[in-house]
Amino acid sequence: MEIIRVKDYETMSKKASEIVADRVKTLENPILGLATGSTPEGMYRYLIEKYQAGEVSFKSAKSFNLDEYIGLSADDKNSYNYYMFDKFFNHVDILKENVNLPNGTATDLKQACLDYDQKIKDAGGIDIQVLGIGVNGHIGFNEPGTPFTMRTHVVDLTESTRQANSIYFSSLDEVPTQAFTMGIGTIMESKEIILLAYGESKANAIAQMLKGEVTEDLPASILKNHPNVTVIADEKALSLV
Ligand code: F6R
Repeated sequence: MEIIRVKDYETMSKKASEIVADRVKTLENPILGLATGSTPEGMYRYLIEKYQAGEVSFKSAKSFNLDEYIGLSADDKNSYNYYMFDKFFNHVDILKENVNLPNGTATDLKQACLDYDQKIKDAGGIDIQVLGIGVNGHIGFNEPGTPFTMRTHVVDLTESTRQANSIYFSSLDEVPTQAFTMGIGTIMESKEIILLAYGESKANAIAQMLKGEVTEDLPASILKNHPNVTVIADEKALSLV
């Protein structure tokens, strides 16, 4: 696991965008695993800048997002589908048909999970997966206690995660109680992973991930068993390491 210590959010975002842009340029048909939340917003901003400057094109890229709320339609402002188009896809040349997120309004949830994993497999697997980390060490929506072997599945969101994500909704009641998430098994099959973290609120999770044992109690700790992980974190997120 390589650790890149940066001074702040902007530097983290820039560094992440450089790594992703490099893979997009180098690979013939790059398969990107993408995340939402506050952490990767800056990275998307820098990737858009690179696209606008003619440095990178996403025409041959495919993307798979980590997760999506259950019960929100693709055009709901709080859906991850909406976030991705708003913050990234609408501003670059990725083809709409190459963009994939779990379908938040699927009726057969089990089948939707199987289909999502199959799609990733059919695409040849994820070349580079971008991850954020939850204050409790979750990756995707894999909360503490989730078996490492799980593939895409439905999760009941914990109160702390709903609370953390409620800033995007007008009230806590509106935050969905369930979500689809790629499982740890799915995430660990990615050929390369970059995990981004900034701010004090992540310091504890980052310290446990880097210094503690590999345990399902801290989902991100499994990344120590992956051969190609880069953590890009700012001083504050690394303050307890
Ligand atoms: C988002 C995701 C989550 C977030 C994590 C951190 O797709 O899978 O695991 O990466 O909750 O969220 P932020 O970046 O908002 O602190």
